[in-house]
Amino acid sequence: MEIVICSTADEAGEVAAARVAQVASQKEGPAVLGVATGSSPLALYRHLAARVQRGDLDLSGASAFALDEYVGLPASDPQSYASIINETVTVPLGLDPARVHVPQGSAQDLRQACEDYEAAIKAAGGVDVQILGIGSNGHIGFNEPTSSLASRTRIKTLNEQTRRDNARFFPTLDDVPRHCLTQGLGTIMDARAVVLVAQGEGKADAVAGLIEGPVSAMCPGSVLQLHRTVTVVIDEAAASTLT
Ligand code: F6R
Repeated sequence: MEIVICSTADEAGEVAAARVAQVASQKEGPAVLGVATGSSPLALYRHLAARVQRGDLDLSGASAFALDEYVGLPASDPQSYASIINETVTVPLGLDPARVHVPQGSAQDLRQACEDYEAAIKAAGGVDVQILGIGSNGHIGFNEPTSSLASRTRIKTLNEQTRRDNARFFPTLDDVPRHCLTQGLGTIMDARAVVLVAQGEGKADAVAGLIEGPVSAMCPGSVLQLHRTVTVVIDEAAASTLT
């Protein structure tokens, strides 16, 4: 695991974007990106978009797979991850919307939607570089503590801390969905490379669990210790409880 500690969150975004761009440009043929929502990767996306605008990186043929989606929010809802990925990833990076995939949280048959999502990732040749944030409780994707380290895309119940963390995007806590579809930890581990970004003191304990272990379902991010190609880019506050 490569750990990069940056003095500001913006610098962390720049370093992480450089790593994503490196993997994408080394790929023979169009890259397959794994993309997270949330605040953590926004600086990364901004710096990646700047590379595209400068003509240093061409992602027009790339595909992308989101990590997760709320159950019950239509894709047109501004808080759905389909909307957020479109706004923060698809448009700024110049991706073809037809190649950007988000789990179908409004599907009639959610189990089938999860199986179809796994099949779509496989059909695209797998994810070349997975961009991740981490929750304050150590979750990656919406794999909450106690998630199986071998899990695949499935329906999960959001835990109360995650609902409270995400309540800032909804009128009230009651409006935050209770269920989601998420790639599993096993699905995430299949990506050929992983770039995880975290900023701020609120993430320090999760980052320490991720990096210093033990590997445990109680800190789902710690499974990344078993992945061969992980870059963790954090600011000083997020690094503050590392030994
Ligand atoms: C988002 C996701 C989550 C977030 C995590 C951190 O698609 O899968 O694991 O990465 O909740 O969220 P932020 O970045 O908002 O602190």
